Amino acid sequence: MKRTEIADVLKKQTQTHLNQSVKVQGWVRTRRSSKNVAFVALNDGSTINHLQVVVDLGKFDEALLKDVTTGACITVVGVLVESSGQGQAVEVHAEEIIITGTSPADYPLQKKGHSLEFLRENAHLRIRTNTFGAVFRIRHALAFAIHRFFNDKGFFWLHTPIITASDCEGAGSMFNVTSFDLNDVPKDAQGETDYSLDFFGKPTHLTVSGQLEGELGALALGKIYTFGPTFRAENSNTTRHLSEFWMIEPEMAFYDIIDNMNLAEEMLKYVISYILDNCKDDLVFLQERRAKEQMNKPKNEKDVMGLIERLEFVLQNPFERITYTEAYEILKNAKPNKKKQFVFPVEEWGFDLQSEHERFLVEKHFKKPIIITDYPKSIKAFYMKQNEDGKTVRAMDVLFPQIGEIIGGSQREENHDKLLQRIKEMNIDEKSLWWYLDTRKFGTAPHSGYGLGFERLMLFVTAMTNIRDVIPFPRAPLSAEF
Ligand code: 4AD
Ligand code: MG
Repeated sequence: MKRTEIADVLKKQTQTHLNQSVKVQGWVRTRRSSKNVAFVALNDGSTINHLQVVVDLGKFDEALLKDVTTGACITVVGVLVESSGQGQAVEVHAEEIIITGTSPADYPLQKKGHSLEFLRENAHLRIRTNTFGAVFRIRHALAFAIHRFFNDKGFFWLHTPIITASDCEGAGSMFNVTSFDLNDVPKDAQGETDYSLDFFGKPTHLTVSGQLEGELGALALGKIYTFGPTFRAENSNTTRHLSEFWMIEPEMAFYDIIDNMNLAEEMLKYVISYILDNCKDDLVFLQERRAKEQMNKPKNEKDVMGLIERLEFVLQNPFERITYTEAYEILKNAKPNKKKQFVFPVEEWGFDLQSEHERFLVEKHFKKPIIITDYPKSIKAFYMKQNEDGKTVRAMDVLFPQIGEIIGGSQREENHDKLLQRIKEMNIDEKSLWWYLDTRKFGTAPHSGYGLGFERLMLFVTAMTNIRDVIPFPRAPLSAEF
């Protein structure tokens, strides 16, 4: 007999399987026994909903039933019938049970309600919980929606390299890639590491961004996007930073910063609406989870909206667009600044916005997503287009409630000489960027792009609060298990 997935079995519209024999396979979530029957909640990952399996204890060998325990993998053949009990429309009355994999009593996920910390330490099994099942099904849907959005708009997915010799963001927080024996690194005459003997003949790193190569693609294919892992060796142990995270970086020829902002807003709304349309069960579960988590919080720390309402709110409202200078004025005159409640007080124009400032603007002042543009050039990367004022660049950051920065992007400096001058001012090795500068030499064009932090967006659409809980196997300082 062919197996049917539980999502299919539970599909209400069709009910093709009702009163018929089905074969299902999955993992036992819970087992409840009364005198004559046992109720087994079976889950196979295809949906957050469990299938109730009713086992007539008289029909089966005691030795076999002993192994139907939480975490065990079983195969069940039985008739699907309407359920008279509460909580489910249908259930399977077992006629045959095969134990595919037993799960002894030391299975770590015995009871419900483990802390997220505990589950992080058991990331190899946490995917089997309701919460992480929901999170990772949504993660898939979100990635799919992103690909669909760009594909439908005529973008090409460009695969940019993971190993690189350049530092796109100029932040210097990169992981080195080498094949040297670290106990015996070759030295040159000056006693420095001799990279000419290393695998690539020069120092190389894991990329912090696919943007620079993405620009090469945009200046040939017109509109491209990247979607892949990026790596940052910053020692940021926060709930918003990973050492390995996924980034989506569209790059478009002939787009100015306004086109860029419009695209970012349209993309975010498209993918959020896709999740609302396609992940309802998982969203409802996560919404309830979040509400429970917030139950004992003081009123001023509670979310003002439920998860689904919050997602709908984003769809319905245009993002607020302001310049850095406007943001600076708001922050400087803001109550928490005057009352010295910011850890980083806002004083001089030119300071870099900290997450407390971003969150004040988004959550307290505007109460909706905002896009901040025209940042001081001193706090932004070398490639951003310089404004006529000589002080600011055509940068754009999209900030979301509860998350802070979700997107960073800009119009790019397409003028060769201005770009080169900036590279020199910032003490970046221009020789290593010869290929990048070539695009400004041969058929340069105005162009723009941005980077969306995939896990930051995941935080927003799942209402999870720690970025380590929205990627299957998080990489963070001192944490690379699994
Ligand atoms: O603002 P960032 O550093 O911009 C870039 O890398 C540009 N090259 C993008 C571009 O213009 N093509 O990073 C972009 C986004 C951030 O807004 C944030 O959402 C996310 O990437 N991000 C991180 N997410 C998780 N962990 C980290 N350590 C992150 N660093 C950045
Ligand atoms: Mg940024």
